[in-house]
Amino acid sequence: MPEETYEHHPYDVVVIGAGGAGLRAAVEASDAGAKTAIICRSLLGKAHTVMAEGGIAAALGNLWPEDNWKVHFRDTMRGGKLLNNWRMAELHAKESPDRVLELEQWGALFDRTPAGKISQRDFGGHRYARLAHVGDRTGLEMIRTLQQRAVALGIDVFMELTVTDLLKDGERIAGVLAYWRESGKFVVFESPAVVLATGGIGKSWKVTSNSWECTGDGHALALRAGAALLNMEFVQFHPTGMVWPLSVRGLLVTESVRGDGGVLRNSEGKRFMFDYIPEFFKAETADSVEEADRWYDDKSNNRRPPELLPRDEVARSINSEIKAGRGSPHGGVFLDIASRRSPEFIKRRLPSMYHQFKELADVDITKEPMEIGPTCHYVMGGVEVDADTQVSRVPGLYAAGEVAGGMHGANRLGGNSLSDLLVFGRRAGEFAASYVKSLGAGRPKISEADLKRAVGEALAPLQSGKAEENPYALHQELQETMQDLVGIIRVEAEIQEAIGRIAALQARATRVSVDGGRRYNPGWHLSLDLRNMLLVSQAVAIAALERQESRGAHTRDDFPMTDPYWGTQNIVLELKAAPDGGAPTLTKRRQELPKAPPELAELLEGEH
Ligand code: FUM
Repeated sequence: MPEETYEHHPYDVVVIGAGGAGLRAAVEASDAGAKTAIICRSLLGKAHTVMAEGGIAAALGNLWPEDNWKVHFRDTMRGGKLLNNWRMAELHAKESPDRVLELEQWGALFDRTPAGKISQRDFGGHRYARLAHVGDRTGLEMIRTLQQRAVALGIDVFMELTVTDLLKDGERIAGVLAYWRESGKFVVFESPAVVLATGGIGKSWKVTSNSWECTGDGHALALRAGAALLNMEFVQFHPTGMVWPLSVRGLLVTESVRGDGGVLRNSEGKRFMFDYIPEFFKAETADSVEEADRWYDDKSNNRRPPELLPRDEVARSINSEIKAGRGSPHGGVFLDIASRRSPEFIKRRLPSMYHQFKELADVDITKEPMEIGPTCHYVMGGVEVDADTQVSRVPGLYAAGEVAGGMHGANRLGGNSLSDLLVFGRRAGEFAASYVKSLGAGRPKISEADLKRAVGEALAPLQSGKAEENPYALHQELQETMQDLVGIIRVEAEIQEAIGRIAALQARATRVSVDGGRRYNPGWHLSLDLRNMLLVSQAVAIAALERQESRGAHTRDDFPMTDPYWGTQNIVLELKAAPDGGAPTLTKRRQELPKAPPELAELLEGEH
């Protein structure tokens, strides 16, 4: 076999991922003078961020002057069941208005209020209408704007390239190894700073709103490079995904439908969410239809309709209705906006939803209710980072957006993701660039031996020769395992079973073999994604077993209560080298959650 040759590219900062966080990080790093590259698995403009529909949460106060960062901070922390990294939540609440205004200066065309300000809509868990939006296509506009900015700055974009490994020099990041998806040829990026902006992990579940790229690459790359993951048990199931037709099962139905007045009903026509108001949110949830309906125009008593409880509460309630036999014909419940808003209003505010249901399900949402059910949507857990700089514990390795942990605690509020991408993408880019400057000439170097090892591992599925295990079959088994055993409701025996099954799948994955060569070979791509999905799924299951309480998106049937002890604990996962030099193992430990300073802690109690 001829000696492997690599394309080499030297950069100051390499950003992996071209979604909102990646683009925003790259823009900032480039603005700071760093030679910056973006690597993306898909084409520029096709990032999963475009699927974020409802809006960007930011306390601009355009509709409700009473809104401010303190209220946003409080809502975010309460939505996260107080397990959030308080400093991230503080920075996020304080900085998101500026990030939205900056996006507008860069060309984003937001919907307007009658007074000509950026329009803001209601979403679950937010006290005031707070989501800056572009119809129900906000993520798309965000990506369009940021990508235009990145291109204008002359940032190099490497498209359809997959990163297989982070390379280090001692403790420090030295670069990344990637391959062109089309040719299968390897590319080496020499770069002392790498920003992970790889998004989520949803492709390990069967019903998911996540697109094909969401295979947890960044989470797995970080673990293998020596970084830690935090609180991976918190996986959010968005209450409203399509349930029908089967080919699009899981596709997101934006929370904006409920934010704009839509309500949930069971097969008996009942607005069942009034039956599921939890103690924690009793004081701030309307308990009659009249009071709930008044809230859209009058926020003075701070009591939201129960359909706008945080997502974890709504998803669990829908799950219970379906289980109790009060579901819709295709196994969901009904989401009704037709009987509550005019067809003009629906088409103007929710154009994508109108078309999505018309074209995919032949349902006219201005006339009939939608059938919806929970869908795996977002992971709150992620790479442990410093709140201010987004650096992980590996020097030179940064993480921003969904791949980073801490910001959203046990449950993310809708709309807080797009603002998170902007706030922490910018910070990651800024601090990655300044780190590189601080290195001067003392840059880390990639070792030839590491490169050879990484290339050898990546090529293994193509070289075993006999088709022992099929990556598609393993992926399907993993999705079934996670869906059935580590889903919305969990219990010890099932999580244990999942851990066993994942270990067996990991063993089988070492024997995966794919036909064909390196030129565009989806089976090979999936084999490489699979090792990431398996590692990350293992992390989720281990953390889910460890946390013996129910909090936010993590519901344990065997520990149904929220436990004050666990409210002080993060679960940290690391890959630890085996003493005998064998394969590293994933280990868990508990770590005290940093305490908010008194001036922030008091915001969590009072009215502001
Ligand atoms: O429901 C939605 O539009 C999703 C938004 C989000 O996850 O923040």
